[in-house]
Amino acid sequence: DRIIAIIPAAGVGKRMGVTLPKQYLTINHRAILSHTLNAFLSHPNIDKVVVAIGEDDPYFKELPESEHPKLLTTIGGKERADSVLSALKYAEQNNSSDSWVLVHDAARPCITHDDIDKLLDARQEFPQGAILAIPVRDTMKRAGSDGTIDRTVCREQLWHAMTPQMFQLNILMNNLERALSEDVTITDEASAMEWANIQPGLVSGRPDNIKVTHKDDLPLAELYLKNNG
Ligand code: CTP
Ligand code: MG
Repeated sequence: DRIIAIIPAAGVGKRMGVTLPKQYLTINHRAILSHTLNAFLSHPNIDKVVVAIGEDDPYFKELPESEHPKLLTTIGGKERADSVLSALKYAEQNNSSDSWVLVHDAARPCITHDDIDKLLDARQEFPQGAILAIPVRDTMKRAGSDGTIDRTVCREQLWHAMTPQMFQLNILMNNLERALSEDVTITDEASAMEWANIQPGLVSGRPDNIKVTHKDDLPLAELYLKNNG
C-alpha cells in the first residue's frame, strides 16, 4: 500500500497569543513544523507528505524541508477539517485512492517513528482505520451549569484523542466531504468516520505527543524533543 502523511498547517495559532503562526515558532533551533515534517519525511514507509499551508503564508518556503522530493504543498481552508479535505483531494490526484493516509497536526512536533510504526501496524487489527490516543488518567467530573460537580464520569472508557489518525484515503475523503456539506461539527478525522457509522480503533500512543496550543506548552515540547532526539 502507499502511505501518505497529511499535515494540516494552515492555522493562525490564536490561543498562542503571538502574531507568528505557532507552527513557525522555533524550538531547539528549528520551526515546530520542521520537526513535524521531518518525522514523516525521514520515515522509510511514508511515500509522500502533503502539507496544507495558509493562503498567504510567506514562511513555509523558508523551511529547509520545503523542497524535499517527498513533499507536496497545497492551500488549506477556513477550519482544520477544510484544510485536511483540501490536502486529501490534492493527494488523491497523485495517488491511488486505496492509499492509506495518516493525518497529523503540524502542531504536534514530538511525534516519533515508534508511534508511527505502532499505528501502521494496527491496520491488521483495525482494517477500518485507527487513531493514536491515550487513556485518561485523572478522575473525570461532569460539571453542572452552576460550576459545581454534577457527577463523576467513569474513566475506564475515556481516551484523549491524538494524531496521527489513519484511514483509507478515499473513504476518509468521502465521509469528510459529506459530513462538512451537512454542517456536522468535525473536530478530528475519526469524528467524520463515526458520523458515517464506522468505529475506528484506539491505539495507545506516547503521552509526549502533545499538541502545542498555549505558550506554556513550548517548554514541554522543547524538553520532549531533547529527550527523543
Ligand atoms: N489548522 C489548519 N487549518 C485551519 C486551522 C487549523 O490546517 N484552518 C491546523 C493547525 O495549523 C494545527 C492543527 O490544524 O497544526 C491543529 O489545530 P490547532 O491546534 O487548533 O491550531 P490553530 O487553529 O492554528 O490554533 P488556534 O485554534 O489556537 O487558533
Ligand atoms: Mg484551531
